[in-house]
This record gives sequence, structure tokens and C-alpha cells, in this order.
Amino acid sequence: MTDAATMDKIVALCKRRGLIFASSEIYGGLGSTYDYGHYGVLLKTNVKNAWWRAMLQERDDIVALDSAILQHPKTWEASGHLAGFTDPMVDCRACGQRFRADHLGDLPCPQKPSRHPGEGPQCDLTEARDFNLMFETTMGPVKDSGATVYLRPETAQGIFVNFKNVLQFSRKKPPFGIAQVGKSFRNEITPGNFVFRTREFEQMEMEFFVEPAQAGEWYEHWKRARLQWYTDLGLRADHLRMREHDPDELSHYSSATADVEYLFPIGWSELEGVANRGDFDLTQHAKHSGEKLEYFDPQTKERFVPHVIEPAAGADRATLAFLVDAYDEEEVAGGTAGEAGGQRTVLKLHPRLAPVKVAVLPLVRKDGQPEAAREIVAALRGLMQTEYDEGGSIGKRYRRQDEIGTPYCVTVDHQTIDDQTVTIRDRDSLEQERVAIGALGELLASRLAAPWQSPKLAVV
Ligand code: GAP
Repeated sequence: MTDAATMDKIVALCKRRGLIFASSEIYGGLGSTYDYGHYGVLLKTNVKNAWWRAMLQERDDIVALDSAILQHPKTWEASGHLAGFTDPMVDCRACGQRFRADHLGDLPCPQKPSRHPGEGPQCDLTEARDFNLMFETTMGPVKDSGATVYLRPETAQGIFVNFKNVLQFSRKKPPFGIAQVGKSFRNEITPGNFVFRTREFEQMEMEFFVEPAQAGEWYEHWKRARLQWYTDLGLRADHLRMREHDPDELSHYSSATADVEYLFPIGWSELEGVANRGDFDLTQHAKHSGEKLEYFDPQTKERFVPHVIEPAAGADRATLAFLVDAYDEEEVAGGTAGEAGGQRTVLKLHPRLAPVKVAVLPLVRKDGQPEAAREIVAALRGLMQTEYDEGGSIGKRYRRQDEIGTPYCVTVDHQTIDDQTVTIRDRDSLEQERVAIGALGELLASRLAAPWQSPKLAVV
């Protein structure tokens, strides 16, 4: 069976259910920026929380940081971004559009979409030239050159410039890490594929500082750990791979990099990079700031500049991968227990990532059922993200919850009023079981915490 997910279907579902949609829509949208609605915020927050949990709660060698988006301009001089954070760009003299020179083969010609830029009869491309991806802005009221600052193109540099601070107040010693989640900005020449490549996005980055001799070992550790994170959260292992960069692909700062790649509908593409950055960043910032950025080991009396292993992920790109992996369409027989027959669209998300964990639905809007349902919502709300829905037939309400990936629907019916029991409907198996209201909270919490694997694994 082929995978039902296409990028168009994901975009349509996200818009229909208000997860993610074009920003500034009433003004016609703004190239490649997206807004997240209620369920999208819940989903992306769950992705970021799962990342924080893996970095902070499940280990004791990483601390958190939230550095400013605007940093001293010297940061970008030292990091090499001012001189070298560029992509090769070409212009077409015929249509006036700009393209990434190294992506021409993946892009449609705006005038003749069946061909690539440069291949149409009227195309007239310039030579490639370097285009710096950093967004510039002005700090303070005076617009002179001294006030030029940049929106950070990665969260990583905020970590390096704080190395000395964090070392002092965290009382950590290598090997230890500093983790950060936040917005980054890149003036991408050709953004696209929904939230895969945008000009404003969120990163989840961690810089792990180690003794130079241990860098290779930790590089291997973080490659394994990061791949495992995605499979633990339900991404199908056969849709994930680790691809080691060839020497000519390596960034100026890196001696080894591997990408976690996911099989998106656009093909295998980078989800996250794991890089061995050596001592490049600390050495550069020490040189440009005049501060010593090193570790003094009081036991051995030795000083060294730690080497850095960096797992760098994108929160929006990861959210997109979870959506793609979860998306499914299937035929439902219907007729039983309120299930509507026909095709359903369902997000088979890991329960930990699902925006809403449980929906409580009164079968009818009378006979004390709404009141009983609201009491259940009040009891569950403190334990998990809970939603109440009484609008439309029960079958339609199940479909609505399927589309946002709600793992459990609790239905209140006539019997509930008599014997204080409800039914729980499982999103993936569609099975229903009757349980006592008093046992609901504990039962749902234990199921949400249980190991989970994609039901799509069994059929694709
Ligand atoms: N500090 C290293 C660094 O920033 P990167 O590979 O350029 O490395 C890390 O970025 C991750 O950030 C990528 O793997 C991707 O998930 C995400 N990312 C990068 N550029 C992006 C963009 N334009 N839109 C969405 N996500 C992006």
C-alpha cells in the first residue's frame, strides 16, 4: 500500500483544522511565513517539550538557556556568518525571479513550470553570486552603520557567547551541554514546501562541550541518541536514515556532520544535523572578544578549549515530519457504536504529541448527558489536554477528533446516567470499551504513557 500523505493533503488538513496556515492572510500572505493555530500550537509545543524532556529531564549533564535573538554584531563576525553565511543565487533577466543556484534542478521555471529555471526558451540566467542569508535591522533610533544588528540565523551562537557565564553558574564540567529552543531567521532565496523551509522558524539546538580526545565518541553517541528520539516518538524507522556528509559538503566549522533524514513526500530531506564543530566557535569568540573561553580542570591543573558536538534540529520541520508520518486515510465500515461509514482522514500521532489527548462527547444534548460530560472534562482537565464537543452527530465528532489525532474519545450515553460508566474509543483500532468514570483518569494516563509504535507500520 502506498503512503496516503502528500504535501498538498497535509497543507489542506492543516488549513482546514487550523493547525498551520499562511500568515498575514487578509493582506494576501507574506512569502513563506506561517501562523500556527490552536491545535498547531499544542502539537509544536508537545514536540518542543519532548525535546526538552530528552535533554533536561532524562539526563543530568545538560542545562537550559534562552539567549536574546538580537546579539552584538561581533558575534556574527566571529562565527563567520557575516563573511560566509551565503547561498549561491542567480537571477533570471527574463522573468525577474531569483533562484538558489544549487537548487535549480528541484525548482519549476515560473514561466514554464514543466521545466527548470534556465531550461525555458526565454530563460536568461545571470552568473551565480553569493547572497548573505542574515536579516539586517537597525537597533535604536539612529539609522547609522554602527547600529546595524542581525536577527540570529541560528540559536547556537547565543550558547557559545554564554559559555563562560553558564560554566560559572551551572557548576558543570565537560562533558556537559547547553540547550536552547527559539526562533531563527534566514532570508532563504527559495523557501518552500510548507514549513519545511521558511524564513522564520524555530530551532532546538544543543551544544555539548567535551574534552578534545572524547569528541569522536560523543559524536557517535549523539547521532544514535537523536535518531532514537524520532523513533521513540513514533516516526517509522524505515522512513528515517542517518546520512554522513561527504568532505566537500562540510561547513567551514565542522570536521564531521551527519544529517538525520526523513522520507518526506518531497523525498529524503534533512530533519536535523549532528555536527562535530571542534573548538572553532569558542576559539573564534575568544579571539574576537578577548575573553578566555576554556575549561580549567582543578584536579589535573590542565586548561583546554572544549570541543563541541551539536545536534541541531528544527521544531517546525520536525512537526511537519510527525504530521506526514501520522497522516492516513482509510475506509471505515461504520454502523456500529456511532461510527460513521466511509473514508476517514486520521492523524496517527504518538499520543504524547497529540494536541488533544481526550475528547469528551455526550451522545445527545439532553437527559443530563452534557452535564455529566462536563463533570468528566473538569476531572480530566488537570491531568491532560481535554476537549468537550457536543456539536453534530457522534460520527462527525469522531471524525473531527481523528483529523487532529486525538487518541481517545470518551462518550457519555444513556447508560452513563444509570451506572456511571462511559465508553472509550481508541483512535487507531476504533475499538470501544466500557469503563467506570472513576477509573478514567488513571486508565487514560497510563495508556498515554505506554510505549507506542505507528499502526501504519503494520500496513504500509
Ligand atoms: N547550528 C547549526 C545549524 O543551524 P542547520 O543545519 O543550518 O544547522 C539546523 O539547521 C536545523 O534547523 C535543520 O536541520 C532544520 O531542521 C532547521 N532549519 C534550518 N533552516 C531552516 C529553514 N529555513 N526553515 C525551517 N527549518 C530550518
